[in-house]
Amino acid sequence: MSNLPDHVGIDFGTHSVKAVELAKISSSRPELVNLGSQVTPKGVINSEDKADKKKLADALKKLFSSSGIKNQKIVLALPEFSVFTRFLEFPGVKKEELKDAVYFEAKQYIPMPLNEVQLSYVPIGFNEEKNAPKVLVVAAPRKIIDIYINIAMMAGLELIAIETESTAMGRAMYRSTGKKDLVILDFGANTTDMSILTEGYLVFSQSIAIGSDSLTQAVINKFNFNFQRAEEFKRNYGVTENILEGKIYEVLSPILESIMVEVRRGIEFYKSKTMSSAPKDFLLNGDGALLPGLSEYVSKSLLVNATLAQPWNNIVVNNKFKDIIAKSGASYSVSIGLALKDE
Ligand SMILES: Nc1ncnc2c1ncn2[C@@H]1O[C@H](COP(=O)(O)OP(=O)(O)OP(=O)(O)O)[C@@H](O)[C@H]1O
Ligand SMILES: [Mg+2]
Repeated sequence: MSNLPDHVGIDFGTHSVKAVELAKISSSRPELVNLGSQVTPKGVINSEDKADKKKLADALKKLFSSSGIKNQKIVLALPEFSVFTRFLEFPGVKKEELKDAVYFEAKQYIPMPLNEVQLSYVPIGFNEEKNAPKVLVVAAPRKIIDIYINIAMMAGLELIAIETESTAMGRAMYRSTGKKDLVILDFGANTTDMSILTEGYLVFSQSIAIGSDSLTQAVINKFNFNFQRAEEFKRNYGVTENILEGKIYEVLSPILESIMVEVRRGIEFYKSKTMSSAPKDFLLNGDGALLPGLSEYVSKSLLVNATLAQPWNNIVVNNKFKDIIAKSGASYSVSIGLALKDE
């Protein structure tokens, strides 16, 4: 049984705010009730300014009214770039001592005073060799949490839980694939978020400060196009080597490569911390993942098996939503994961 009632998952992106409402979330076949998205006003994400919060709350209201979502209970995600996560092991520490140990250790790793963050941790198994409980520590700045509590209130919605984008994403990917070992890349407008699932647990996440808008910007810089035209070129040609004599590929690939450098670094960090090899299955999410040729590019660059995620697998979808989902299925993964949260 679910501890949380059916609710709407809200993903605040810098490009768009996305909502998904599901029913029967604890069953093996949840049902899509409704979904929608709304362009995010410029510069409002994480802003403490009252007028900005009002703009975001208004966008949220508009999202609910335009897509006809009636359920007022929401679960939302804090943007990944605003939270800190860290995988830690505690050799010799007993279960009842873990909480104190986490708080003590966290001081060294969290780049903010502890009284300014909300600290939580998820036990993710046990390292037999080191006799050490393993945990993922998550720290979210209170300031940021307050912003979103405020926005939910201003929009007249009932906020029932908050989590991080990567946690929601991990849940959505696990439920759609049944796979417990995955690397997940979320190509957003401003950032590319990376997370690693092992044995079904989220053990690593990081936000890389380069997103799909940088690709558009590179096309603008190179060809002197306006934004609209550059965006069209990006979406139509993508990162395919043999199109337009490779001219677009040449512009886009160095930026993608700088993202890959950070992904590789993340993998190396993961390997050094866990002493195990990283998963070879990569799932690509976010609207930026729709870039033609991206899966092949990532597969080749990292020598892995990268595919576009299918977050709607195992969710019952009415025909009236089929068109939206066919066009932008992988952009709703975080919202789906939030809607699936059941405890
Ligand atoms: N068909 C497409 N092909 C390539 N890129 C696309 C396509 N559609 C949208 N994009 C790009 O995807 C980006 C937006 O992705 P998304 O909506 O997932 O971002 P977001 O979640 O709002 O942002 P962030 O996660 O960075 O806060 C934009 O840069 C946009 O240009
Ligand atoms: Mg996003």
